[in-house]
Amino acid sequence: MSIPHGRNPPAAVPFNRHWNAPGEAEAVAEALRSGHLCGDGPFTRRCQERLAALLDGTPTLLTPSGTAALELAALLLGERPGSVVVPSFTFPSTASAFALRGLTLRFADAEPATACVSAQTIAAAAAPDTVGVCLVHYAGIACDMEPILALVRARGWWLVEDAAHALGGAYRGRPLGTFGDLAAFSFHETKNASCGEGGALAVGRRALLARAEILREKGTDRSRFFRGEVDKYGWQELGSSYLLAEVLAAVLSAQLAAFAAIQERRRAVWLRYAQALAGWAREQGIALPQPPPWAQPAWHAFWMVFPDLAARSAFISHMRARGIIAPFHYQALHVSPLGQRLGGCRGQCPVAERLSDCLVRLPLFAGISETQVQLVIDAALAFRA
Ligand SMILES: Cc1ncc(COP(=O)(O)O)c(C=O)c1O
Repeated sequence: MSIPHGRNPPAAVPFNRHWNAPGEAEAVAEALRSGHLCGDGPFTRRCQERLAALLDGTPTLLTPSGTAALELAALLLGERPGSVVVPSFTFPSTASAFALRGLTLRFADAEPATACVSAQTIAAAAAPDTVGVCLVHYAGIACDMEPILALVRARGWWLVEDAAHALGGAYRGRPLGTFGDLAAFSFHETKNASCGEGGALAVGRRALLARAEILREKGTDRSRFFRGEVDKYGWQELGSSYLLAEVLAAVLSAQLAAFAAIQERRRAVWLRYAQALAGWAREQGIALPQPPPWAQPAWHAFWMVFPDLAARSAFISHMRARGIIAPFHYQALHVSPLGQRLGGCRGQCPVAERLSDCLVRLPLFAGISETQVQLVIDAALAFRA
């Protein structure tokens, strides 16, 4: 099978490539044959059970994307007007889900060592009208949750974990995605477990589960009807459609069945990069990720922070010339075009701005070969900042 590519020649080492889990194609065929193609069929149930098992029993609902899970979280929690604190260094969905609900955004800066927000940066961004926080466990490495939970409880805020990177990660042994009132997971193609596009909402605050089911089912109590709990269903609330089609749930069920193997492979590659590049990175003034003592990483991303934008651009070109795709992300949201229209300005979140200019990720996916890992390491070691 060839590596998908657009007008560029195929990369020797793409940044990411979907890995076909054992039984994935058979599960898709079974879903197609079953005649049950819409959401909430047997494959959805299987995925939700597997996710709950990874999340200490927290109930989960599959959604069409991580973005949809965040939007469902915002529908559930965002009734009280005010502002929400979100990281500046994140994907736009973390913020837009809440802004779409009418909440004002307040951008929190990142900690340089983890690229995550902290209790200090959240408190600095909050305002008297703040009603909630949505944090991101960047790259699957936990935010420091104890001080954050203490802050959130003291102020009476709700908490959402954007756990798009974090399935399989933990904070002091407790799974990420079990700390917030709600947590959003992503199964986008680039994530550790993937079905192309997909997501899940974990409902930590159990009292929200019944309403979550209703809002996800177009505002109706159809889920209760299908379980035989009511004899007809009707329009109960303003909701939307946030179900994942069964064919995609079939892919995800195979991925989740192989999750331990996926994590083991990603961990091995991550640790290999860390070990092989440590001396070179020190010499070149490049920072590598250092998981803090509280974090058991989810091994979602291996990243490096270059001394400046010019060095990062030179590294990306150097790798591309050797057929290796090493991309950067994210544009700090407060200085994005929309962020600036919302009042964001340079200097407001200096760490996020620096990460935005200087961070690069290396290829990391379950199917990466030993030869490809070595190509990445050799190419990086040949670079001089
Ligand atoms: C931190 C973060 N949150 C949310 C999302 C959105 O997830 P999805 O692409 O499944 O909508 C992403 C996507 O990459 C992400 O990185």
